[in-house]
Amino acid sequence: MNQPDPARVQMRPPVAPRFEVPPTVCESLAPAERASIETQIRALLVREDAVLVAHYYVDETIQALAEATGGHVSDSLDMARFGHEHPATTLVVAGVRFMGETAKILNPEKRVLMPTLEAECSLDLGCPADAFSAFCDAHPERTVVVYANTSAAVKARADWVATSGSAVALVNFLKDRSERLIWAPDRYLGDYIAHATGADLLLWNGSCVVHEEFKGRELHDLMRQHPQAKVLVHPESPAAVIALADVVGSTSQLIQAVAAIDAPEFIVATDRGIFHKMQQVAPGKRLIEAPTAGRGATCRSCAHCPWMAMNGLRGVLQALETGANEIRIDPDLGRRAYRPIKRLLEFSAGRGDPFLAGDA
Ligand code: 13P
Ligand code: SF4
Repeated sequence: MNQPDPARVQMRPPVAPRFEVPPTVCESLAPAERASIETQIRALLVREDAVLVAHYYVDETIQALAEATGGHVSDSLDMARFGHEHPATTLVVAGVRFMGETAKILNPEKRVLMPTLEAECSLDLGCPADAFSAFCDAHPERTVVVYANTSAAVKARADWVATSGSAVALVNFLKDRSERLIWAPDRYLGDYIAHATGADLLLWNGSCVVHEEFKGRELHDLMRQHPQAKVLVHPESPAAVIALADVVGSTSQLIQAVAAIDAPEFIVATDRGIFHKMQQVAPGKRLIEAPTAGRGATCRSCAHCPWMAMNGLRGVLQALETGANEIRIDPDLGRRAYRPIKRLLEFSAGRGDPFLAGDA
C-alpha cells in the first residue's frame, strides 16, 4: 500500500453528535401471512408502475421479492444507478434513508417510497450538515468528497460523492490532479483510502456501528481455527480487521469474491444480510460471520444493521397501498446534491469528471 502524505491529519468534528442506536428487531411473519402480503405487493407494483430496489443487508424475503418482480438487489452505488435508469415512475427503496434520498435526488420527477422513514445510518447521523459545512469552510483549499451514507444537505455541500465500491479509484483520480481532500464521514474507510492511495485526506470522525464492532484479535483466532478460509472485509471496518483481509471491498465486490475465489470457506466481516446473496452465487461454500464479540466488545448491532432490519414486507405493502413514507426533498437542495452524485455516476461509468470544465 502507498503511504499517505504526512500532511494528512485527523480531526474530530466540532460537535460530537448524539444519537440512539435502536435494538435490531427483524420482522417475523407466519408463512401464510407472508405469502398473502407478497401477492398484494406484486399486484400493487404493477398498478403503481413501481419497481422494488433493495440493499443486500435487508431481509432476504424483500431481496427475493425485488428480484422476482423485475427489481434489483445491490450495493448503494448500483441501487442509485438502477433507479435512475429504470423507466418505472415509482421507486420503492428498501434500505436506509440516504438510499431513498439519493434515488429522489437523481430522479426528482419520480415518486420514491420506503418501507419506513425511520431507517437511519450512524454515518449519516454522525455528520450533521451545519457542523460539516463549518468544517469545510475552515479548509477552503480542500476538495470535499463525501460518502454516499450522508444526508442530502451534506451531499449538497460536497464536490463529489463516493461509495465504498468507487472511493479508491475516485481518490486516486483526484490525487493525480494534485487535489487535497476532505473525506467524510467514515474515519475507518477514510483511513483505508488514505493508505490505499497515498492521498492527502482530512477525515471526519464518523463510524458505522455495525462494522466498527468487528474485532481484529478475535478474527485472528478464528482464522487459526479455519486455515482454509479466505477473509472478506468491508472497508468500514477497523484497520486491525482490514489488515487481516484477503479481499477488501464494497458489498458487491465481496459477493463477487465469494463466487470467484476457489476456497471452501469464507469469513465475512460485514452485515450478515449479505449471506443471502453470497449463498445464492456460491451455494457450496461455507460462510462464517467474523467475530463482533470478545475482549472489549459492546456489540450494539452484532453484525446486523438495526436500521436495515426495520425494512419489512408490511412496510413495503403499506407504502405501495397508501403512498406512505414518501421521500421529499426541497427542490433547490436536491439540485445542489444532484451534481456530486451525478459526477460519481459518470466517473464510475468510465467517463472521468463531467464537470471538469465547470459547465454543469
Ligand atoms: P455498499 O455501498 O458497499 O453497499 O455499502 C453500504 C453500506 O451502508 C455499508 O454499510
Ligand atoms: Fe449505515 Fe453501517 Fe447500517 Fe451501513 S451498516 S447503513 S453504514 S449503520
